[in-house]
Amino acid sequence: MPPHGGQLINRIATSEQRQVFFEKAEALPRLQLSERSVSDLEMIAIGGYSPLLGFMEESDYRSVVDQMHLVNGLPWSVPITLPVTAELAASLKVDSLIRLDNPQGQFVGVLELTQKYTYDATHEAINVYRTNDPKHPGVQVVYHQGTVNLAGPIWLLHRDSHPLFPAYQIDPADARDLFAERGWKTIVGFQTRNPIHRAHEYIQKCALEIVDGLFLHPLVGVTKGDDIAADVRMRCYEVMLEHYFPKDRVILAINPAAMRYAGPREAIFHALVRKNYGCTHFIVGRDHAGVGDYYGTYDAQHIFDEFDSGALGIQPLKFEHAFYCTRTQSMATTKTSPSLPEERIHLSGTKVREMLRRGELPPP
Ligand code: ADX
Repeated sequence: MPPHGGQLINRIATSEQRQVFFEKAEALPRLQLSERSVSDLEMIAIGGYSPLLGFMEESDYRSVVDQMHLVNGLPWSVPITLPVTAELAASLKVDSLIRLDNPQGQFVGVLELTQKYTYDATHEAINVYRTNDPKHPGVQVVYHQGTVNLAGPIWLLHRDSHPLFPAYQIDPADARDLFAERGWKTIVGFQTRNPIHRAHEYIQKCALEIVDGLFLHPLVGVTKGDDIAADVRMRCYEVMLEHYFPKDRVILAINPAAMRYAGPREAIFHALVRKNYGCTHFIVGRDHAGVGDYYGTYDAQHIFDEFDSGALGIQPLKFEHAFYCTRTQSMATTKTSPSLPEERIHLSGTKVREMLRRGELPPP
């Protein structure tokens, strides 16, 4: 599976580049990144966002927001930008290098500033998130961030190994090697931001029946406050893999990106990122990357029809809303079970969180 755009991007500074940047470090203007921008920096550098070399310039930004394609014609659905305050932007000169620090003040990257531009936050919200409601968690970020986007190629200088899951920190190039080592020709990617539940297991296993391997790729970047913490979720995946899946059919790895909650547009984005990791297929279930009632149950599936499938280059595997059917005593969807609505048990992430908070176990 070739990466998006044909070449896996690597913007991790070489030791020579690192040395040059460290020598210049004191003289460079300094920018402290948010946690989300740090995760974007990392994703660009490791090739998860191939073909991006850095934060988007205005032409790509506009083309993505308005037409869901980069200027070069490749599909791309979510802007990858580096917003800062107008005051800070005014102090930075185009055509210069900017030192990028993480929120702890550590020197982690360099931006070659090629452009700075203002943008219309409401227009971005309506096009990307399909709403301008400031309560939407993705829109909220857009409305609270800086008003000027900095753009240009980046280099990653430093990355901590993940404090909790170093063994699962698998970059796109490594994932590709692992797939090749196992002889997998077809690999399905699975995005999640929730503890694994029966519906997840069901759709993963349905997918596994038709492909060689499952790339279980939970997102561990910034999520909204009431989502379950990543360490708890990871432990759930480990338990599932220990007891309920064959060891040689699944690879668990973390996706360092932040959640946008952009529903349909994010489903496309999630698929392209997994294509860069080497997946050939991608699972899109019910209300993928959705939040509240902002998106229709299958909007994130319908959006795939708006793209040329060859240009996307990864095949969505679409699943209906899965539930436990008390009549047939198995997981099912309305495609596979004759049950009446009252014979279906739906446990959403929200419902499970409420039960756990009350100290109740979900039914077996
Ligand atoms: S997401 O924000 O990462 O999409 P979540 O972790 O809940 O949220 O979902 C992971 C994947 O499983 C998504 O593709 C989602 O559509 C799918 N999914 C979640 N619950 C169900 C369900 N009950 N039936 C079918 N698909 C589901």
